[in-house]
Amino acid sequence: MAGKSTEIRPFGPEAIAAAAALIRDGQPVAVPTETVYGLAADATNARAVARIYEAKGRPSFNPLIVHIPNLASATRLGTFSSEARALAEQHWPGPLTVVVPLAPDSPVASLVTAGLPTIALRVPAHPAMRALLDASGRPLAAPSANASGRISPTRADHVLASLSGRIALVIDGGSSAHGLESTIVAFTGGLPRLLRPGPVEVPQALAPSSSQIEAPGMLASHYAPAKPLRLNATERASNEWLIGFGNIEGDASLSPSGDLGEAAARLFDLLHQADAGSQAAIAVAPVPDIGIGRAINDRLARAAAPRP
Ligand code: TXA
Ligand code: MG
Repeated sequence: MAGKSTEIRPFGPEAIAAAAALIRDGQPVAVPTETVYGLAADATNARAVARIYEAKGRPSFNPLIVHIPNLASATRLGTFSSEARALAEQHWPGPLTVVVPLAPDSPVASLVTAGLPTIALRVPAHPAMRALLDASGRPLAAPSANASGRISPTRADHVLASLSGRIALVIDGGSSAHGLESTIVAFTGGLPRLLRPGPVEVPQALAPSSSQIEAPGMLASHYAPAKPLRLNATERASNEWLIGFGNIEGDASLSPSGDLGEAAARLFDLLHQADAGSQAAIAVAPVPDIGIGRAINDRLARAAAPRP
């Protein structure tokens, strides 16, 4: 998509129809929400989710928030305690994200959760995001629609300033009402924890102490396989399961054709497979450190780093 022109359409039935067609085609679309503009893609399609990272130039696979139309849809993707359910009922639709254990048969691509056993879920209030959820019929993974390292966009022209030429469509819904990302509260065991303060006040959730920080963007490693991982491997040792890329075939390949976007989409799935298999160790073929390959290598380096 890089180098193509980015269309802006005012929020309305035509924009939503065009956006839903792109979503079903596996493309990301920038869409207003009441917090900030999101870059939305089909959360059940790993290749579509990889395109979010490609467009943002995100240096690491932070897990993404999945947007759904209502609490019933949310409970198909995550497992809600009664406390999590009560907070969601109080604030949804709205600028609250809850992190809960991933449902056992969740259809969400593992790239969305960056391999974590938890999932961040939000029912948005903005009519454009709600219309897109309705028209596409898919759960939508959506980080803020800015290039990595830039501030979050609250207007369509902010989105264009950093993503022009990298995505096909921006839906213009005017200025975001909150202009600040959603409050994130984790219900993944013990007391609720405030992972990110935001528009919704949740007095019963306290920020984790620095020794228990769990917002994955802050962690040195938020996904590591249980087995030792060797990087830049060109052949397998006898105890290894080799994850190939390009010419290096391996036991399974990130992308036989050397497509980095395909490799990004398959990375977490193959690490899970390697962990579950019978070999004691994992090796991974070299991946070029360009474009989204940098994000792949960032995650691989964290996965191979010495464990605490
Ligand atoms: O308001 C918002 O939340 C906007 C709009 C578009 O909905 N989205 C947004 O997404 O701010 P993003 O990707 O910029 O921030 C997502 C945050 C990150 O800090 C990430 O670490 C955290 O959510 N997160 C996602 N999944 C998580 C999980 N399973 N456990 C803990 N934190 C998680
Ligand atoms: Mg962001």
